[in-house]
Amino acid sequence: MGSLQVRLLLTYLAIIMVTLMLAALSLFLQMGEYREQISYGNLEDLGRLVNSQATTEIQRAIDEGDPAEGGEVLLAVRQFLTAGRVASDTSLAIVDRQGRVISGLTSRPPDQTLDGAVVRDLKEQPATEGSADPAAEPRRCRLDIPERPAILCVSMALGPAILEALNETDASAIIVARPAASLGEIVGDLMPRLLFSGLIGVAAALVLGFAFSQSVAAPLRGIARAARSVARGNYRQRVPATGPREVRDLAANFNRMTEEVQRSQQTLRDFLANISHELKTPLTSIRGFSEAMLDGTIDDREGVERSARIISDESNRVLRLVQELLDLSRIESGQVSMQQEEVDLRELFGHVGEVFALRAEEAGVEMDVTVSGGARILGDFDRLEQVLNNLLDNALRYTPAGGTVRVTCRDLQPGTLQVTVGDSGPGIPPVDLPHLFERFYRSTANQGNSHRKGHGLGLAISREIVRAHGGEIWATSEQDHGTTFVFTLPTAGRTTPRAAAR
Ligand SMILES: Nc1ncnc2c1ncn2[C@@H]1O[C@H](COP(=O)(O)OP(=O)(O)OP(=O)(O)O)[C@@H](O)[C@H]1O
Ligand SMILES: [Mg+2]
Repeated sequence: MGSLQVRLLLTYLAIIMVTLMLAALSLFLQMGEYREQISYGNLEDLGRLVNSQATTEIQRAIDEGDPAEGGEVLLAVRQFLTAGRVASDTSLAIVDRQGRVISGLTSRPPDQTLDGAVVRDLKEQPATEGSADPAAEPRRCRLDIPERPAILCVSMALGPAILEALNETDASAIIVARPAASLGEIVGDLMPRLLFSGLIGVAAALVLGFAFSQSVAAPLRGIARAARSVARGNYRQRVPATGPREVRDLAANFNRMTEEVQRSQQTLRDFLANISHELKTPLTSIRGFSEAMLDGTIDDREGVERSARIISDESNRVLRLVQELLDLSRIESGQVSMQQEEVDLRELFGHVGEVFALRAEEAGVEMDVTVSGGARILGDFDRLEQVLNNLLDNALRYTPAGGTVRVTCRDLQPGTLQVTVGDSGPGIPPVDLPHLFERFYRSTANQGNSHRKGHGLGLAISREIVRAHGGEIWATSEQDHGTTFVFTLPTAGRTTPRAAAR
């Protein structure tokens, strides 16, 4: 019962059953004409029987009685009619040549008299085939009864001998009358056929339902198997996109998710490899120089001083790496809350400009800072300074002497500021652009003109800070024409929760 396939099958079955039942119901409700056909058919059968019995019994009365005593025949006819041979809803009567029920010659008790009832022949009569005596065949008619609805009847001409015996009464035919068949009778008549059709429908529904439900359930089972396999660590697992659109969508999304998991596993592995690599170089030289001092290989004062400086530099480098990593992971996980203070960007840019002015001058690079518009936002002064420091540090590192570094800040649209840091350096190859903001990513195209080698964490941290302020950061670059980093900041500070802004 729990499986999707069984549920689908049961659903198909339920649908076909309900459909069949509704079809049967509407069939019953719409088959007034069919009811009449059935009723007439039954009446005709009954009529033939009644007629042959009447002929036999009345003939016997004629044969046994005195031909001069017409009254005896009449008595026999009356007895025959009232003998209770037919069901209570059915009436027998003798009608005259005009089709009028002859008073007293009916099977009805006096309180339900058919007096004054008249037979009306139906215009359309089904042809009677193969009958020996067409005159004795039942004719379909209606019986108009005063102050009651007309009922169905069949009339059969009486035999010549009986007619003669009843000469005085002007009798001409015997009729059998009954209201049209009830719904119950029709249902009883049709039910076996309907049940048979229903069985065929149900069998077809089972076969088709199995095929359809299989086409939905099989790919889902495939996806469930693949999910178990991924849970066991097989991240290469992919599923084919087959079945209905929703299942194909699910398969496609499953594959995308697995790719993402595989990618993040890879990122984690790369991350660990990168950290190990970044730590290995400084730690190796720290160990080398400290051992050399300990075992006396370096014993002169100058050598010891040089080694101590290298050890100090390298441990600072390790410390900086660890601090940057900690910083990045704390910002990423939302542990660092950004201040929401009013920041005057003119003040911030003036401050950063002063810090880098000397370095720019030394490098022979022209630095130009332009701030326009309101230049006030709600944010974290120190963190924004960290972003600008990294962007300017990169720009100055990669811009050769004689180049320019331009910093601008302007209103992009009401409520949003745009900051750009552009340089006239060598530019970044298009293949590297999408990865610049990943941890430890360093373009191999240019290693910069500075001796200080970075860890490739500055841009990753910058992006986290900008996003935490509700903005976005990106880079554009043209080979040999420089690189421009652009970021936006909402002036009203971060309005959405940090997680939503990511
Ligand atoms: N202005 C630029 N021109 C050319 N390449 C750049 C520029 N800015 C960044 N890059 C490239 O992007 C890489 C990543 O920059 P990022 O600031 O993240 O790291 P880093 O400067 O190498 O190290 P860190 O900032 O951690 O000291 C750099 O290594 C460099 O290859
Ligand atoms: Mg940097």
